[in-house]
Amino acid sequence: MSQQPATEYDVIGVGFGPSNLALAIALDECARRARLKCHALFVEKRPHFIWHGGMLLPDADMQISFLKDLVSLRDPTSPFTFVNYLHKRGRLEGFINCRTFYPSRLEFNDYLRWVAGQFKDLAAYGETIVAIEPVTAGQFVTSLRVRSRTPGGGETVRLARNLVVAAGGAPHIPAIFGKLADDPRLTHSSSYLDTVDTISADHKAINIAVVGGGQSAAEVTVDLRGRFPNANVDLIFRGHALKPSDSSPFVNEIFNPEYTDFIFSQPGEHREAIVRNFRNTNYAVVDSDLLDQLYRLLYQQRVSGKEHIALHPRSEVTGVVPTPNGIELETVDKFDGGSRRRAYDAVILATGYDRDRPLSVLEPIRTYIQGSEPDRNYRLATSPTFRPHVYLQGYSEASHGLSDTLLSVLAIRSQEIAESLLLTISRRELIAYA
Ligand SMILES: Cc1cc2nc3c(=O)[nH]c(=O)nc-3n(C[C@H](O)[C@H](O)[C@H](O)COP(=O)(O)OP(=O)(O)OC[C@H]3O[C@@H](n4cnc5c(N)ncnc54)[C@H](O)[C@@H]3O)c2cc1C
Ligand SMILES: NC(=O)c1ccc[n+]([C@@H]2O[C@H](COP(=O)([O-])OP(=O)(O)OC[C@H]3O[C@@H](n4cnc5c(N)ncnc54)[C@H](OP(=O)(O)O)[C@@H]3O)[C@@H](O)[C@H]2O)c1
Repeated sequence: MSQQPATEYDVIGVGFGPSNLALAIALDECARRARLKCHALFVEKRPHFIWHGGMLLPDADMQISFLKDLVSLRDPTSPFTFVNYLHKRGRLEGFINCRTFYPSRLEFNDYLRWVAGQFKDLAAYGETIVAIEPVTAGQFVTSLRVRSRTPGGGETVRLARNLVVAAGGAPHIPAIFGKLADDPRLTHSSSYLDTVDTISADHKAINIAVVGGGQSAAEVTVDLRGRFPNANVDLIFRGHALKPSDSSPFVNEIFNPEYTDFIFSQPGEHREAIVRNFRNTNYAVVDSDLLDQLYRLLYQQRVSGKEHIALHPRSEVTGVVPTPNGIELETVDKFDGGSRRRAYDAVILATGYDRDRPLSVLEPIRTYIQGSEPDRNYRLATSPTFRPHVYLQGYSEASHGLSDTLLSVLAIRSQEIAESLLLTISRRELIAYA
């Protein structure tokens, strides 16, 4: 039986989160302007659009102004602004009366879903891209074979002339917890809402450990307190104190799109120092309103004498043993050397995300990639015989700055990539007509 030839696309996107969603809009706009056709497809492993669904907590707010939506910084007149979303939903006046720049994450997710719904023809949901392989003609790599796993365990193969990887981060599981990967009592914060109902509270005094000292750890701790009033929650982190994220106005300018030019133009050691210097805008820090809320909760416990949340700063997890009575954690105070052991009914790792693992899909074309860092337009340098363009969104913090993993520059970055991509498409079309 002859097989159907694989469909060929101008560009395939790995993942359909905010980064590739912003690209879908920018490609559509740029292609219309240039009167070009761009045959694009975005492959998304989730069955439908959702933005960090495991952490869509009822009380969580955005950490960025709604004006940094998918388009406004590039074109505030676009139909895909957050303001237009509010207008279409009939909530513009109500939102204004809330007097905030920071909508709830639930509402921003709904905005992103509303945009995604308008690009549903460009999305293949429920498929996980597992490999990107070279397609050769003579000595040239002419396109890429994109293999994805379908929900039923089957495989779909497509061809891509160009590729944009925007698969986000992968949950960071510290090595010491590696052996418990299949233990249902251990969860990463990215799956928190998917699994929290399996913690059988039954109004019993259960023990839960949250590991980490960043925004996810603080949000999960507060959520657990509301969800399981009788639970004892230990927040275990390595720092001396929970620290606030710096979102003050002068510092916040590092997230302006033009800052990307500045940081990209710097030598490697300067870039590294800048990223390190501003780490407290984003990593292992907590929004100051949430810190105040958590502090008040702890204080109120002292007033009532019922202490359900305990903070364990300076604590390194040195032992993890699964037992029938729970996951036993041994922690050591890094400064006084004191250690403690406790068994937990559930352990939630709010230990952040790795950004290198999602790039493993590129392994079969690794030999063609030159250097680890993309150019200013996020395109990887490849050997001269390799024709496809491969772009990265969200993996270039070291070269493009801290905004790279956030929403801050999506409106501008997507246009930069779209313009670069369409240049290759228009060149190809010109060659085809010559
Ligand atoms: C809980 C949480 C809240 C956040 N809040 C903010 C905020 O308020 N402001 C801000 O600026 N940043 C925030 N961030 C940072 C976050 O990285 C960005 O908001 C944004 O999600 C980045 O978009 P992305 O598309 O690059 O990555 P993601 O949103 O992670 O999307 C990647 C997509 O790729 C899919 N995917 C992964 N691998 C594959 C594969 N092999 N095949 C197919 N599909 C795949 C995933 O399912 C996912 O849908 C938050 C992060 C978290 C974890
Ligand atoms: N409402 C929202 O908008 C919202 C909600 C959640 C998250 N976010 C965003 O999501 C991103 C990630 O935040 P996050 O809190 O998930 O991760 P994060 O900021 O990277 O923090 C990870 C925490 O885990 C700790 N950790 C890492 N490895 C560890 C190990 N081996 N042992 C013990 N502790 C370890 C880190 O401690 P060390 O510092 O000691 O390494 C750090 O405290 C940020 O951009 C954040 O703003 C946003």
